[in-house]
Amino acid sequence: MAQRTRWQGQDIISIREFSRDQIEDVLTHAQQIRPDPQLLVGRVMASLFFEPSTRTQLSFATAMHRLGGKVIGFSGAESTSVVKGESLQDTVRTVEKYADVIVMRHPLEGSARLVADTVAIPVINAGDGANQHPTQTLMDLFTIKKFHQRLDDLKIGLVGDLKYGRTVHSLAGALTRFRKIELRLISPPNLRMPPAILHELNGVVPYTETEELDLRDLDVVYVTRIQKERFPDIEEYEKVKGAYVITLKVCERLKPSAILLHPLPRVDEIAPEVDSLPQAKYFDQVQNGVPVRMALLKLVLLGS
Ligand code: NCD
Repeated sequence: MAQRTRWQGQDIISIREFSRDQIEDVLTHAQQIRPDPQLLVGRVMASLFFEPSTRTQLSFATAMHRLGGKVIGFSGAESTSVVKGESLQDTVRTVEKYADVIVMRHPLEGSARLVADTVAIPVINAGDGANQHPTQTLMDLFTIKKFHQRLDDLKIGLVGDLKYGRTVHSLAGALTRFRKIELRLISPPNLRMPPAILHELNGVVPYTETEELDLRDLDVVYVTRIQKERFPDIEEYEKVKGAYVITLKVCERLKPSAILLHPLPRVDEIAPEVDSLPQAKYFDQVQNGVPVRMALLKLVLLGS
């Protein structure tokens, strides 16, 4: 049997499992990869989305198609046997018989790990509740590197729902792998970064926490949506919705070289007129999801 190379068969569950070298390896592959209708011929990706998704789901499917693979799956569990009471473990034990890789989004934190422990095929976490979204982070880093030509020596602002936003949890964790990063954590007091993430940053990445939407001196401004669906109490959501709106006026303080990112979807946190500013890069960020996910699918299915 051919020897397994280091990425082959690997699960992608949390950014915490990535060293700096591994992050850079994925980004290099993403930079080099080109559509190739032969590369993943005969391979099947199961796309299991138990939570809504536009970009993540479609970009994974696009990535698989561009490499010649096939996609099965569902978006929303309503049409599956989950509504009959089937467990997640039984569902994925079944899917494993049909597919070579699972890409899953699920509302429960830790669900991706559970699935990875249940099946033998590689599992890619496309978001598990408020916990992690590692492939989003890889495309965020790809985008930052593309515009700044570096991942060290950056002042980065994370804005909005830092409590429930999984994209900022993964991104903050990834930034601990780089040098001379400074973080400005901008959120309402009740949506501050969770202690576990602050603990990861302590002693590694200097950070300040503030309520004030101060974008001065930042190289990267990463804006997030208030995660309405994760609030146990809708009244709490009502109190903070619309807390931050990035307007042209707010952007007057942006450095000309700054980049404005957002994982999308946006609700009202970036005004549409901001889209035409040279710093607005969130639609470039969307586009980068495809090469990054092509690289990940190639790596976990074929190795490097
Ligand atoms: C994010 C998510 O699902 O966590 N979306 C995405 O994957 N681009 C952000 C969000 O839903 O706010």
